[in-house]
Amino acid sequence: MTADVIDGKAFAAGIREKVAGHVARLSEEHGIVPGLAVVLLGEDPASQVYVRSKGKMTREVGMKSIEHRLDAGTSEEELLSLIAELNADREVHGILVQLPLPGHLNSEAVIDAIDPAKDVDGFHISNVGKLATGQAAMVPCTPLGCLMMLREQLGDLSGLDAVVIGRSNIVGKPMAQLLLRDSCTVTVAHSRTKDLPEVAKRADIVVAAVGRPKMVTGDWIKPGATVIDVGINRVDGGLVGDCDYDSCAAVAGAITPVPGGVGPMTIACLLANTVTACCRAHG
Ligand code: GUN
Repeated sequence: MTADVIDGKAFAAGIREKVAGHVARLSEEHGIVPGLAVVLLGEDPASQVYVRSKGKMTREVGMKSIEHRLDAGTSEEELLSLIAELNADREVHGILVQLPLPGHLNSEAVIDAIDPAKDVDGFHISNVGKLATGQAAMVPCTPLGCLMMLREQLGDLSGLDAVVIGRSNIVGKPMAQLLLRDSCTVTVAHSRTKDLPEVAKRADIVVAAVGRPKMVTGDWIKPGATVIDVGINRVDGGLVGDCDYDSCAAVAGAITPVPGGVGPMTIACLLANTVTACCRAHG
């Protein structure tokens, strides 16, 4: 079997086009331009690439991009004061503080200072709680993008066995919540899981979000399963996922490539979340 390749790049382009349509309507009919503020501390090269790309795509869909690049040594007080300003700014509808933060800062305190209504990352404890209890929440962008691709590929996910490998707050845990909300039977596996390959092999859906290059191999995959690879690992100057693409694609029914799978969907969902936040802010 050769797996269908799930084209995240094309899917994301379609979402951005819809977002651009919403933005144009907001602007023409209501004179409102959605604004996304991104805060980056320090010079981490990967974070700089993400932030540049977010800014470019924000502008491309017609939204206002506000970038704050701060020194790595910025104090928590200064950062919290900037967040308070952005919370109060009526032209800012979404706020994203790029993670990871430098070690001297308390990420939880920083995230919890963001107005939950502007928390387009969906990381604020209020949004985490809302997602877990089935209330309308800002949903984290990467797992939201994964869910959209799964629904597009499989239709109704109800009753399917899903294994999420990785238990991070950014991807693994919210991914599990979203799959549960769609009535999957969900297992969250991680580095301490016993017989991980056997656990994965039971799944109709495997979401790999561990940050270890090519860890998931074809012998972990049930024939015909759908594989979503969240990993973006830099190896020998190139990008590889958490899945060994060739061996997984030989067994799976469908798989996302790296690059060109989950990555573009994350930014498209960020833009969609910002429009949602803007519409909610203006009733
Ligand atoms: N760093 C890596 N992924 C993300 C993300 O989705 N949001 C933020 N804020 N930082 C990140």
